[in-house]
Amino acid sequence: MLPRLHENFPLRGFNSFGVEARARWFCRVCSADDLAALAADPRLAGLPRLVLGGGSNLLLTRDFDGLAIKVEVSGLRELGDAGDAWHLEVGAGENWHATVERLVAMGRPGLENLALIPGSCGAAPVQNIGAYGLELAQRFDSLAAWDFASQRVVRMTAEECAFGYRDSLFKHALASRRLILSVRLALPKQWRSLDGYADLARELRERGVSEPDARAIFDAVVAIRRRKLPDPAIIGNAGSFFKNPIVSREEHQALIARYPSLVGFPQPSGAVKLAAGWLIEAVGLKGATRGRAGVYEKQALVLVNRGGATGAEILAMAREVQDKVAEAFGVWLEPEPVII
Ligand code: EPU
Repeated sequence: MLPRLHENFPLRGFNSFGVEARARWFCRVCSADDLAALAADPRLAGLPRLVLGGGSNLLLTRDFDGLAIKVEVSGLRELGDAGDAWHLEVGAGENWHATVERLVAMGRPGLENLALIPGSCGAAPVQNIGAYGLELAQRFDSLAAWDFASQRVVRMTAEECAFGYRDSLFKHALASRRLILSVRLALPKQWRSLDGYADLARELRERGVSEPDARAIFDAVVAIRRRKLPDPAIIGNAGSFFKNPIVSREEHQALIARYPSLVGFPQPSGAVKLAAGWLIEAVGLKGATRGRAGVYEKQALVLVNRGGATGAEILAMAREVQDKVAEAFGVWLEPEPVII
């Protein structure tokens, strides 16, 4: 049966910035069968598609003249253990944070460093979510996706997803061509805490925890994120708006000679990942307000909707950040969210 199609549908409740924008068509899909049924509808032929997960990595700057698809595939099941990992499959529509918490409670730890990241499980591979020393790619087995061209479900390995820093093929060649239906996780049987990230180590120390279990890491990450990052249910935002830029060792040396307090993290390749939050703070934009958009006062990497902002206002704020950082440091900040 064809999933119900809504025309001229408001997307304000479907993007964590909470901006107003409409989709010409909107529908919810719960399975591959729903997608197959949609393909037969002549009203949708040739229209662009926008796949919506939790809408927490999306900036809508205009109405979308196409089909917005809200993915609501549910379920979490154990597939068994192979080698050194527990394998589980989770539906793309499941909430990410609730799934992480459930897995910890089930005795299947391994994702706790990624607690409280907003969004859905199906969106997690799109930008290879990461935080506090862990990326999804490290706990990923494969995924099932709907391929719109061939009208069938395909399975993709990590290699085929081409994961990078906040990146995968779903942000490029496969954007709107494949829709993630479910994700298979590989969680380590021999669990070890990943508690080296400076902020996390400090939080655990302050809590008097020297040998954290997964729940202790989960609680510490939740506490740090609650302190530093705005709750999208209260202040519209999409987490970090920019990626931390990676510069060559030479560029880094030139910058640090001029700005000794510059924060950077050497990469295995020899390049250096700069803390974009530091760069934005250094150009004086932390806490800035332009119209109804702004830069969050507690984390300069986060742009916020101060109430009623349009996507265009937020984009203008982003451009000002990019321009000022480029002018001061010669470094261009790439946005993390998908911008429509
Ligand atoms: N910093 C500043 N001023 C700021 C913010 C940061 O100077 O306003 C400097 C500080 O030196 C701080 C350093 O930047 O120590 C790093 O800050 P933080 O630990 O908050 O991490 P981040 O690099 O700003 C990244 C991710 C976050 C993730 C945290 C923790 C990106 C783009 N962002 O932020 O991910 O939660 O690390 O691992 O890589 C997201 O992707 O949406 C996201 C929130």
